[in-house]
Amino acid sequence: MSVRIVDSGTFYIGKRQILTLEAILGTCVGLALIDRKNDIAGLYHILLPEPPDPGTDFQREAYASTGLPVFLSEMVRRGADPARLEAHIAGGALVGPVSEEDFIMNIGGETFDVVESFLRENNIPIVYLETGGFFACRIQLDMRNFSVRVDPFESPEGFNIERFPRPTREDLIGTVSQLKPIPQVALKILDMVKRGDYSFAEISEEVRKDQVIAAKILAFCQSPMFRLPHGIQSIDRALVVLGERRLLQAVLMAYCEDVFRCATGGYSMCRGGLFNHAVTTAHIAQALARSFNLPEDQAYTAGLLHDIGKIVLDHYIHPVAPYFYRKVLNEGRSLVEIEKSVFGVTHIDTGEILCREWELPDAVYRAVRGHELSEFDEAGNMLIRIIKMANFLSGTFLPGQSLSAVGAADAAGIVRGVPLGKGQLLEVLGAASEVSRAVKS
Ligand SMILES: [Fe+2]
Ligand SMILES: [Fe+2]
Repeated sequence: MSVRIVDSGTFYIGKRQILTLEAILGTCVGLALIDRKNDIAGLYHILLPEPPDPGTDFQREAYASTGLPVFLSEMVRRGADPARLEAHIAGGALVGPVSEEDFIMNIGGETFDVVESFLRENNIPIVYLETGGFFACRIQLDMRNFSVRVDPFESPEGFNIERFPRPTREDLIGTVSQLKPIPQVALKILDMVKRGDYSFAEISEEVRKDQVIAAKILAFCQSPMFRLPHGIQSIDRALVVLGERRLLQAVLMAYCEDVFRCATGGYSMCRGGLFNHAVTTAHIAQALARSFNLPEDQAYTAGLLHDIGKIVLDHYIHPVAPYFYRKVLNEGRSLVEIEKSVFGVTHIDTGEILCREWELPDAVYRAVRGHELSEFDEAGNMLIRIIKMANFLSGTFLPGQSLSAVGAADAAGIVRGVPLGKGQLLEVLGAASEVSRAVKS
């Protein structure tokens, strides 16, 4: 049976057919509307409660207050009778024990409130409701018979304790040596970014030497993320149209996609999930750095590479993924605590090994080391706080990419470390969801 993933900020509407619609929900809310008599149903994956600027039409579907009227009128246009609709709702998870006034921690609850009052105003009964809780879930709408299922998000396979691996340090070094390293040219570019004196003539010169990477960069230029006209055929032309900063991002993304592709399915919760998480985190980190007047390129690079250690541990998680998923998603402990208890080593440890082996720049090393620490050992380092926040936001609001978990107490510390207004947060998350969709397309 084919499954269609409904991404955050989008919906799908159709007649009865052999298809399952599916959305992975953390703080997002999933709403299925069904009109059985007229044979039409839809699933809507709602990211946030309301837009930062209610006056604009930008990304209406990402927000409950502006997207719900669009969803409903599209249902009606496709033949649904509003008087016959029934609603099924899931998601809207809490990030952790929350204080009432903390918007970030209760964003799922706010989205749910908007959905509930919209349904009430339109006299649409809620026949099934499973919201709140602390963990991600999966809502599925079976379009054959319009049945709805909500499950905790985990792999359905069984766990075989016999295959439980506990790598030694030698094993890890061995795994690192088998990975395809980041090419020298990428390191050179990272180093230029760190020094802040990069020369684009030099970068495009280096990139042109590698046909595979050059082709990939041109492909990225066609991605909706960069919103460019089609037909850019050369790196020089890309530089003119993209501008320096975005070309740099395209170059780094091209290298990182290669590196993250080594991860075959332990940490990635969908195809390319680890890469998607990296790019989304990088974009959020860059936006936050801009607000706090910090070097944007450093934030972007550190965001892109913060979880690089996962590509090493991924090899060991793969055979026990279902067991590991269940522990991470159900125990309410942080990912690193669980890694430590299962493997005796964390993706921070393996990230540090990689940073040393590949001689990655210091800012990346510090982001790798600091992004999952529960306390601010680098209290003065705002860049680390930003990476922690970006990692937290992309893992929480755009779940289903890379396996991640932040303990409730840590979440509160992370959020307080980077004070953000509600409007600012909504803007950053709206843009991040657009990037995440663009990476997938
Ligand atoms: Fe991480
Ligand atoms: Fe992460």
